[in-house]
Amino acid sequence: MQAAQAGSPTAATDGRRAETVRGIALGLASARGPLIPILHAVQDQLGWIDPETDVDVIADVLNLSRADVHGVLTFYHDFRRTPPPRHRAQICRGEACQAVGGQELYAAAQDRFSGSPDVEVGEVFCLGNCALGPSGFLDGKLHGRLTLERLEGWLS
Ligand code: FES
Repeated sequence: MQAAQAGSPTAATDGRRAETVRGIALGLASARGPLIPILHAVQDQLGWIDPETDVDVIADVLNLSRADVHGVLTFYHDFRRTPPPRHRAQICRGEACQAVGGQELYAAAQDRFSGSPDVEVGEVFCLGNCALGPSGFLDGKLHGRLTLERLEGWLS
């Protein structure tokens, strides 16, 4: 028997994950149009949706084909199909933020953190914080007057 590598899932963690996903799916299976709520619930609870194991479990509970579940999972970009990085920066690319350097900040942040396994840079469009642009979410918390230096300090 081959030993599991550090950080890699084991059969036991896969089994626990599958049971968690099954519990979520069973809990929502009787709802109208349950697939999307189940996918959201799995992502909320586990951080991402495994396109292999989670899809199999959900398809089984809902009596759907893997292709049906996979099709919905891949159609919506909000569903994560890989584990999330440690940090997530979402830079506002709305008009007001663009007028104060949001576009340049977004491009600089993408350059700075490209290839980093710990940081994901994404975009959002207007967070209602226009007067304090460039704005963004850093791990889900709203920040204003963002600069690349502030991002680097916060994310390092
Ligand atoms: S345009 Fe960026 S917060 Fe409104």
